Formats: sequence, structure tokens, C-alpha cells
Amino acid sequence: MSWNQLTLDVPDDLKDAVIGQLSDDGVAGVWEIPVPELGVTRLILYFEPRSNIEKLEKQVRTVFDRSYRKVPIISRAVVEECDWTEEWKKSYRSFPIGDDFFVIPSWEECRVPHDRLPIRIDPGQAFGTGTHETTQLTVEALERWIEPDQVVLDVGTGSGILAIVSRLLGAKEVIACDIDPIAVQVAHANIERNAEDEVWTFSGSVDAVKSESVRLILGNLTADLIMDLFEEFNRVLQPHGIAIFSGILQEQREEICEVIDRFGFTIHEELTRGEWLALIAEKHVA
Ligand SMILES: C[S@@+](CC[C@H](N)C(=O)[O-])C[C@H]1O[C@@H](n2cnc3c(N)ncnc32)[C@H](O)[C@@H]1O
Repeated sequence: MSWNQLTLDVPDDLKDAVIGQLSDDGVAGVWEIPVPELGVTRLILYFEPRSNIEKLEKQVRTVFDRSYRKVPIISRAVVEECDWTEEWKKSYRSFPIGDDFFVIPSWEECRVPHDRLPIRIDPGQAFGTGTHETTQLTVEALERWIEPDQVVLDVGTGSGILAIVSRLLGAKEVIACDIDPIAVQVAHANIERNAEDEVWTFSGSVDAVKSESVRLILGNLTADLIMDLFEEFNRVLQPHGIAIFSGILQEQREEICEVIDRFGFTIHEELTRGEWLALIAEKHVA
């Protein structure tokens, strides 16, 4: 079987808009490849052979026109079916994350910079390669806000990357959960790969966690999910506990800040990258 392919270099703040624009048009796969230019990602988009490639290209152009940005070169190709996993593996290479870590795909042999700690990851089908801005912001926030010997809850652990980082940064214990049982399997394997003890995984969510048992919560989810789960976050967090929320679009800031405020939390810090925002908030007691 062959596939229609479009390739273009997209500024990171338009990446999700391009993918979103095509989501109703049968995009069969998206491959994101880092390029040397800062703030730009190469998108390779695959469509089924009967798709109208001209119409699809036009859809992509509208995203750039709408935001008054120059349309990049868009190349078209027809490619034969191949082993996508093997192809993807070629593009996922080791890279630094935060100030202290170096992510290494589990199949890569490489030298780790002397001032960084290695994290070996095979993301499988789970979110959490470490290349996404929302994960990077959470790692950066963790480096600044975690204190030794805390109990950390990673809600939506995906590949387990944030749970591993938490333990390497000195968490006493990390509880990592995800509603996707495949992600939990992937996280468990990555945690073992990094020889981390005191990191527990389970399939499920924050509602299964004991009240006031957690000192630091990580929620790289979506703004809607964070708002829906806020009551539970409030319940499990100890007084003066810290929550790091990521996966929020900057345009959703006001909406989510209102909810955080309503629960009496104080926002201590906001980190941004491209269109993304991470918030660090502290729980107060009346
Ligand atoms: C954006 S990924 C984050 C993965 C990883 N923590 C990272 O930062 O790279 C969000 C994850 O949350 C999980 N998820 C979605 N809704 C959830 C919920 N209500 N409770 C727990 N996990 C959830 C998804 O399955 C997904 O693996």
C-alpha cells in the first residue's frame, strides 16, 4: 500500500494548529522531527492514497494565512508502506532536557554529558518522549520546585518520564498513574529500565489516591482535565503542597487561573514555551 505524504517545517506555535486543521481530513499519521532551527519542527503528514492532496495542502496554507505567517515550502510525495516504528526510531535521538537530564532512547548507545543524568526511555505507544514542550516545562518546573523526601503524584504518567525525573531529583516516593493501561505498562518498563525504586504505577487516576497524602502533584494533561480533576487534586494534596500543571494553552490561562483561585491556591510561577503554559500553584488552608 502507498500513502500520500506532505512535509513542511512549522514554527512550534503553529504545529498543533496544523495537525488540528487536518484532523477531520483523515490524516493517518504525523511524524515530528526536530530540525536544527530553534522553535521549528519538521512535520511529515501521511494520508490515505485516495485523499485529495491539493485540498489538504490548501488546508495547511489556511493555518498560516490566518495567522499572517509566511507559508513554508510544502513538499508532496507518495511513499510505500514501511515499518513506521523502525522509521520513527531513526528520528528519536538523545537530547538534553531541563538543566540536569539527558534523555536517551533505550536502543541508542551514546555518551552522556558529564553534568547530566541519563534517563533511558522507550515511549512505545505512550505520550512522553520528552520532546514535547509541555513535558519540558514540567521537568523545568520540577527542577525548581521539588524538595528532597517528598511524596510525588504523577497524574497521566504516559511513558513515566516525569516520575523518573522526580525520583532522580530526590523524591522519597513517586506514585504514577494513567487511565491508559498500555501507558502504565510502558511507564513500568521505563521505571525498571532506569533502576528506580520507590516508584509505584497503577492504572487509574487521582480519585484512587488517599486524601492529603501527597506533597507535590504533576499534571501534564489538558486545561479541561485539570479543571475537571481540581477537586481531587485539592483533596489529595497536603496543606502547602505544590501542584505543577502543564498542557495548558496560553489562551486558556484566564479560565484555569479562575479555578485555581476559587480553590484558594496561590500561583507562584508561570512558565511558557511557544503556545504552552505551565503553572506552579500552592494549596493553602483556610
Ligand atoms: C500529555 S500526556 C503526559 C505524559 C507524560 N506525563 C509527559 O509529561 O510527557 C497525558 C497523559 O494523561 C493520561 N490521562 C488522560 N486523562 C487522565 C486522567 N483522568 N487520569 C489520569 N491520566 C489521564 C493520558 O492517557 C496520557 O498518557
